[in-house]
Amino acid sequence: MDKISVKVCLGTTCFVKNSANKPKLKELVAEKFGDKVEIVGSPCLGVCSTNWEISKAPYIKVNDVLIQEATVEKVLAEIEAQLAKGE
Ligand code: FES
Repeated sequence: MDKISVKVCLGTTCFVKNSANKPKLKELVAEKFGDKVEIVGSPCLGVCSTNWEISKAPYIKVNDVLIQEATVEKVLAEIEAQLAKGE
């Protein structure tokens, strides 16, 4: 199975809304999943501009799955779900 790719949006909208506490996320992911998961920062994923008024930032993508109002817990749960599917 390929590595799971986690893209943390670092665009302005997501950044001001905390981008799911990236340092904590990185630490927990490394601890729980080792090298099965790769976390990268990404420029604006393009979602915030389509829906400014009811923005659900911060956004994070786990492979192709977009997570709205992303929290560390939501991202870890999605990674676990995808790893379970891939095994
Ligand atoms: S700033 Fe995150 S989707 Fe645009």
